[in-house]
Amino acid sequence: MSIPMVDLKGQYESLKPEIDAAIIQALGETRYILGPNVQAFEKEAAEYLGVKHALGCANGTDALHLGLLAAGIGPGDEVITTAFTFIATAEAIRYVGATPVFVDILPGSLNIDPYQIKAAITAKTRAILPVHLFGQPADMDEIMAIAHENNLAVVEDCAQSIGSTYKGKRTGSFGITGTFSFFPSKNLGCYGDGGMVTTNDDAAADAIRMYRNHGSSKQYYHDVIGYNSRLDELQAVILRIKLKHLDDYNDNRLRVAKTYNRQLENSQFKTPQIGDDRDHIFHQYTLLCDDRDTVRESVLAQDISCAVYYPVPLHQQKAFADTEQPDLPVTEETSRRCLSFPVFPEMTDTQIETVCQAILRA
Ligand SMILES: Cc1ncc(COP(=O)(O)O)c(C=O)c1O
Repeated sequence: MSIPMVDLKGQYESLKPEIDAAIIQALGETRYILGPNVQAFEKEAAEYLGVKHALGCANGTDALHLGLLAAGIGPGDEVITTAFTFIATAEAIRYVGATPVFVDILPGSLNIDPYQIKAAITAKTRAILPVHLFGQPADMDEIMAIAHENNLAVVEDCAQSIGSTYKGKRTGSFGITGTFSFFPSKNLGCYGDGGMVTTNDDAAADAIRMYRNHGSSKQYYHDVIGYNSRLDELQAVILRIKLKHLDDYNDNRLRVAKTYNRQLENSQFKTPQIGDDRDHIFHQYTLLCDDRDTVRESVLAQDISCAVYYPVPLHQQKAFADTEQPDLPVTEETSRRCLSFPVFPEMTDTQIETVCQAILRA
């Protein structure tokens, strides 16, 4: 039995009549840019996340860019972040002219280590950019306390964490801004690129609205040089339908992860650890293993998908060769040992069992 990392076709088939009808209706309405579905989705997403404003944009990378701009981060500023993430997290720091300062992660959650954040603060530090990696919230109490004590902004990268909670609050509602991706394979994925920025701050919301739309708050009047980064109307149609199923999708991902954990708990693999007071939504199910590449080849040979997120941490990427090269032992070891396995809401018990057997055989 061949098992993919995600089953986008299966999910589409289950929603096809509703999605197809809603797209045809939106096509007929012809309000293709920032139309009624974008506006409705923004309202529904803000309610779901418990924030004052949710603003659609073109993708999760732009969301980070807009989120940093709205937080007032610019040239000369330092932003403390993790190197164990997708490159967009730190690319966006560069887009605003600031410098990423990479610090180490915690060996359990693989999220940024608050103790290391504290140690990295300098006179130039202006913001902390935690990533809620693989769907598990970072240590937000500690991060918000450090930010408060040092007068720093917090921009949350929630690309992988939509719907997850920390002490009952959704990720994306803690910082000055929270940034989301609707890349198709995300827990809430559209059928192309899409993104969103959240905030409880009215001035930040105005700034995001302006920057995403050519620096304009009134048509053909431009206050700043902005960008063309709007959420597409047809993607908003799809997102509105899928948002209603998000909690169910996340619960099912948790079902898969819990079964994996049970079946693998006495194996040589280190299973994901979930911190207290938070919900993990398992965007990825990632094991740590000693002989990662051998395990990977064996699992792939059994026709089961698996993938390495991320093989090269950002401080070791060529693109960041000009930044300071810190020693990040936990990050570097995790990059050598991590391996992610299929996790998607539609996974059947037989598929889960087949993956576990393939891992154990490996
Ligand atoms: C942690 C993280 N940040 C940012 C992004 C960027 O999102 P997008 O691909 O929508 O630009 C991603 C997407 O893969 C991501 O995983």
